[in-house]
Amino acid sequence: MKRVDDFRLRFGRQELVPIVVGGMGVDISNADLALEIARLGGIGHISDAMLPTVSDRRYDTNYVSQKLKKYKANVASSDKSQVHFSLGEVEEATRQHVGRTMAAKRGDGLVFINCMEKLTMNAPRETLRARLSAALDAGIDGITLSAGLHLGSFALIEDHPRFRDARLGIIVSSARALGMFLRKNARLNRLPDFVVVEGPLAGGHLGFGLDWAKYDLATIVSEVIAMLKAEHLEIPVIAAGGIFTGSDAAAFLEHGAAAVQVATRFTVTAECGLPDKVKQEYFKASEADIEVNLLSPTGYPMRMLKDSPGIGAGIRPNCEAYGYLLDANGRCAYIDAYNREVERHPGAKKISVADKTCLCTHMRNFDIWTCGHYTYRLKDTTRRAADGSYALLSAEHVFRDYLFSSNGQIALPA
Ligand SMILES: Cc1cc2nc3c(=O)[nH]c(=O)nc-3n(C[C@H](O)[C@H](O)[C@H](O)COP(=O)(O)O)c2cc1C
Repeated sequence: MKRVDDFRLRFGRQELVPIVVGGMGVDISNADLALEIARLGGIGHISDAMLPTVSDRRYDTNYVSQKLKKYKANVASSDKSQVHFSLGEVEEATRQHVGRTMAAKRGDGLVFINCMEKLTMNAPRETLRARLSAALDAGIDGITLSAGLHLGSFALIEDHPRFRDARLGIIVSSARALGMFLRKNARLNRLPDFVVVEGPLAGGHLGFGLDWAKYDLATIVSEVIAMLKAEHLEIPVIAAGGIFTGSDAAAFLEHGAAAVQVATRFTVTAECGLPDKVKQEYFKASEADIEVNLLSPTGYPMRMLKDSPGIGAGIRPNCEAYGYLLDANGRCAYIDAYNREVERHPGAKKISVADKTCLCTHMRNFDIWTCGHYTYRLKDTTRRAADGSYALLSAEHVFRDYLFSSNGQIALPA
């Protein structure tokens, strides 16, 4: 049987190790992780989720407090339609984060940015255009469009000087969604450079309903490959979701995938942006501790650990500071759920909101522990110390394990 190292991903004349580490917001797939993957010859992702906040934490800016100050008078109001991002600041934060990351890049690999369409920011088109163009301005190698159908996103940047030279790709969960994207973008005469096909075992938001378990990645990947072949399109297909060992990955490559996108194995690496305490929760998880639920205000199912501190919390919506999920009319499903509970419990000091979560606040604070289906296998990828804690891995160790392992084996750290 072949190993991942027997394959290469080709973008024109460029050859890469066919391992992509997927975007994980908010700053879970951080610059350290993405840069390490690029150094090793693969593709790493940073995320563009909540970059003004990330910038405050990393680079000592104060975008969040300034925005909160500007809209302070609105905090108690449930009408958030007036709460807007300054496009200039969104651009500035994106340019800063991408620019610094790209300046630190070493090695033959690439750094992409993951852009989620569902971060509608109370002005979906304008804010997405600002984020995409600023990332291109700052020299990002490529953009992966995710969480949403993105039917109009290419058009938002068609006039950007790098529109045809940067690597642009999309994440889909069916051949049908890819077909729609290709039809909608036909007039631009610019195909995606890659298509990530994400199955139902992935972390983060899922492109499936609560019946996700009926679907299977290998089948969807072969349907997408067949569709592209029938249309005589040569677009590399990248399989994602539940690819846990190097052997799993090699099997996809043998069946025609150009690369694999993985994430869960890297959540417990030293480079990954999760706090160390949360990494231990990922290690400890059993299969029964993981659920797919509808708590995300985006309406997409999301996979997470049932013990996530953000589940059931009844905090006041934080849209004046954040507001990344406000739709084009300034609404978010969490605000409605919160107001309903406040009405039901007049005068209560503390309330709980069971059906939705304030995803901005909790993802920013690492209190919603989104994870892939196979998180419960992470404990088998490392050693345990006498005090019961699990040893963190290096991203290089996990990367090389994907590259060289065979027969379903997982190499433990030295
Ligand atoms: C903690 C975590 C956060 C994630 N966040 C995002 C995200 O912000 N955007 C996105 O497109 N995909 C996100 N994903 C999905 C990954 O990029 C990737 O495609 C998928 O998880 C791969 O499957 P695996 O985790 O089984 O290896 C996330 C995955 C994890 C584990």
